[in-house]
Amino acid sequence: MTVLASALDSATPEHAAHREAMLARLEALDAEHAKALAGGGEKYTARHRKRGKLLARERIELLLDADTPFLELSPLAAWGSDYPVGASVVTGIGTVEGVECLITANDPTVRGGASNPWTLKKILRANEIAFANRLPVISLVESGGADLPSQKEIFIPGGALFRDLTRLSAAGIPTIAVVFGNSTAGGAYVPGMSDHTVMIKERSKVFLGGPPLVRMATGEESDDESLGGAEMHARTSGLADHYAVDEYDAVRHARRIVARLNHRKAHPAPAAGAAPPVYDEEELLGIVPEDLKTPFDPREVIARLVDGSDFDEFKPLYGPSLVTGWARLHGHPLGILANAQGVLFSAESQKAAQFIQLANQRDIPLLFLHNTTGYMVGKEYEQGGIIKHGAMMINAVSNSKVPHLSVLMGASYGAGHYGMCGRAYDPRFLFAWPSAKSAVMGPQQLAGVLSIVARASAAAKGQPYDEEADAGLRAMVEQQIETESLPMFLSGRLYDDGVIDPRDTRTVLGMCLSAIHTAPVEGARGGFGVFRM
Ligand code: COA
Repeated sequence: MTVLASALDSATPEHAAHREAMLARLEALDAEHAKALAGGGEKYTARHRKRGKLLARERIELLLDADTPFLELSPLAAWGSDYPVGASVVTGIGTVEGVECLITANDPTVRGGASNPWTLKKILRANEIAFANRLPVISLVESGGADLPSQKEIFIPGGALFRDLTRLSAAGIPTIAVVFGNSTAGGAYVPGMSDHTVMIKERSKVFLGGPPLVRMATGEESDDESLGGAEMHARTSGLADHYAVDEYDAVRHARRIVARLNHRKAHPAPAAGAAPPVYDEEELLGIVPEDLKTPFDPREVIARLVDGSDFDEFKPLYGPSLVTGWARLHGHPLGILANAQGVLFSAESQKAAQFIQLANQRDIPLLFLHNTTGYMVGKEYEQGGIIKHGAMMINAVSNSKVPHLSVLMGASYGAGHYGMCGRAYDPRFLFAWPSAKSAVMGPQQLAGVLSIVARASAAAKGQPYDEEADAGLRAMVEQQIETESLPMFLSGRLYDDGVIDPRDTRTVLGMCLSAIHTAPVEGARGGFGVFRM
């Protein structure tokens, strides 16, 4: 038997304290998620309803197969910015007529559903996910187009929205636009570029320029319906493939389109009935210590994520600060790399590179569980070749072709974030726990380094060093870096796909793995860069 043993005692005061801290963070997270759910707030929601319209999430719910889950992505986008949390659009993965689809829905209660810089980033990320995993894209459109005051941030890069739709189509990935309201100017190219379009009687407005703009440009008098109404597009221009009589009818049309796509998954779903972990997922709340300097055994996490808590560890005696091994999650085979003591040494890096190559030979997706302060520094380690060994691991991660999943459990600092498949290394999905922290280094270390540099600079100029100002600066920098390392801040900037409750990790990863297997999972047989040995 290779079922992991657990040394976790949920009755200890430490466990209770970790759990308490995690629950407090989850409560704070819920409050931020609630802001995204509230959209444009009561006034605009009431006005929207009074017009007889459904909210963005209601439209998604109707579209999905009954009683199936929706994996919402980037719900905290724009957190900490000048724009409302959620970035006026909802994106995520859900099942329609048995087909896993990538769904986007503008939230018209937030500034008319207009797209600001974070909306753009969020939709582009969604498109990336659709591409990599070959998921059909369903756009539920109702938007005032570009957020005009921030046009300089979005007009030029925003062209990628329409480029992506047609490239998805060219790659054989179906695209469907359902137009619930305004879809004007650049927005008109969402239905314009989609394979299938549904428009709604007296609701859809799809034109390059509305009546005032047309009057300005050509002097022609017109109205919404003749310029871009559903009836006109269904009977005259031919832009609408389906004419729906109301929102419910539009959703019904969209479901029928998906039913006829003949979109097949590259890999059949694994046999149902995967064994759950033998340990309680609830205990995941009490594993990560509040102070991330205190190490924890990631096997306790793995034991609460994988099928039957069954894990075959690879090279357990070599490079023990990185746990590597094989498991299954909801029936999908998975290789796992998890930081144990925080620091990555040469042996850990070499072991990681070997393990990643093995996963590529076997076509097995990889999961990276982050809790690292980075690669080891110091004379002994530099002389031992830590740079070339770290480079070996980063090379393997960069050129690996199997799908990667990353979960930031605790620290994810420095080049360790890169070696463990951080955001820039294109993991198919990346989620953070509320306990995660990510930055170039820890806040204290960063403030300390700045102080040493400032002190040396003053000495070089022969100037006295102001110790009092230094202490103030250190405190300020430490605070700033701490704030910028926190998951809500990072999620706001789209550096992850969401901050999740640790107890949901198995479910979230299971949905991701299922979506991933829509596209062929094929590892790199060669094609790595030059490994420095
Ligand atoms: N950029 C910035 N803010 C916008 C916006 C845009 N493109 N579209 C709407 N808003 C704002 C409005 O100013 C309004 O703000 P306020 O409530 O603080 O005054 C809020 O969003 C709601 O807009 P409102 O016009 O009251 O909502 P509506 O549901 O009646 O109409 C639209 C929505 C989208 C039809 C309408 O706002 C509109 O025509 N906007 C401009 C569309 C356009 O030409 N865009 C250019 C595309 S490139």
